[in-house]
Amino acid sequence: MKSHIEIQRIEKSKIDSVDFNNLPFGSVFSDHMLECDYKDGAWQTPIIKPYSPITLDPSAKIFHYGQSIFEGMKAYKDSEGKMMLFRPLENCRRLNKSAERLVIPQIPEDVFMDGLKKLLEVDSAWIPTNEGSSLYIRPFMFATGSGFHASPADAYKLVICTAPSGAYFAGKVKVLIEEKYARAANGGVGFAKAGGNYAAQFYPTQLAMEKGYNQVIWTDDNSHQFIEEAGAMNIFVRINDTLITSPTSDRILDGITRKSILQIAEDAGIKTEVRKISVGEVVEAAKNGNLKEMFGAGTAAVISPIAGFGYQENDYDLPELENPFASQLKKKITDIQTNKVEDPYGWRV
Ligand code: COI
Repeated sequence: MKSHIEIQRIEKSKIDSVDFNNLPFGSVFSDHMLECDYKDGAWQTPIIKPYSPITLDPSAKIFHYGQSIFEGMKAYKDSEGKMMLFRPLENCRRLNKSAERLVIPQIPEDVFMDGLKKLLEVDSAWIPTNEGSSLYIRPFMFATGSGFHASPADAYKLVICTAPSGAYFAGKVKVLIEEKYARAANGGVGFAKAGGNYAAQFYPTQLAMEKGYNQVIWTDDNSHQFIEEAGAMNIFVRINDTLITSPTSDRILDGITRKSILQIAEDAGIKTEVRKISVGEVVEAAKNGNLKEMFGAGTAAVISPIAGFGYQENDYDLPELENPFASQLKKKITDIQTNKVEDPYGWRV
């Protein structure tokens, strides 16, 4: 059964003011957004309305105790104007996993999916068709319920807003392997897409940027001897012809791009390993020439190749390869996402 959705349309679209040939990432917003409130123990009727500010009580718990989670997804349009999403139920389920950890109520899958599809129908003109562009979708849920008592709120809001977007990174990035700070700890919230996980990255990333790097490679909080994530993305390391990524855990996000890339790589005959990656072996491989590639994988950037890394005052450059796994895999996944090839996995919706 389709859930009921109220629609308030914008009087005049802003779309003519947008240069679709020069889209930034995530800073130009489509005409409408979806809002759905949770109060009195139940999710209310979702509303699609003009993109506009949200007014909250100053004591709303989001401001004080950070009950806030989000997702990142993308919509694409093919040459015939067909709109597509990539594994959207996975995002909905992960949102609910994050919600459970942050004591935010579960959003029913049909409310989320029907609302998202309706929003995309209303703003379908905002889905870019240029190569490398897409409509970035940001669903988020946060505590609107008020009061300074440090306990879960009694009211929440789900918002979905969208931004026609170009590339997340302009080119390859230079990264610093972090030895002091950690983004996550055992028993913590690292696996959840909690806003606070990203806030906690900003300071160490700022320090790395002051040293000339673009991003931090996160290591485990206990020993700092194992590589876990790359900035706000999962990480892949290629040693000789084996593609390795760290196993998901309490500390590592179960990335949808990560698991799709793993599947695509295996099916393309690339040897893959999901195991702990030690900093020592990466440094050793860089020294003896066996480290061929490193890249981040996430919805926003898809695949973000790493040009080199810093570790303990030394810099290591990665080789420039003819046809790196990063480019091969990025092409394969984006071709599936944008309906350029058959989707043998049933990921495209
Ligand atoms: C994504 O890849 O969608 C992310 O969640 C990264 C985001 C912080 C831009």
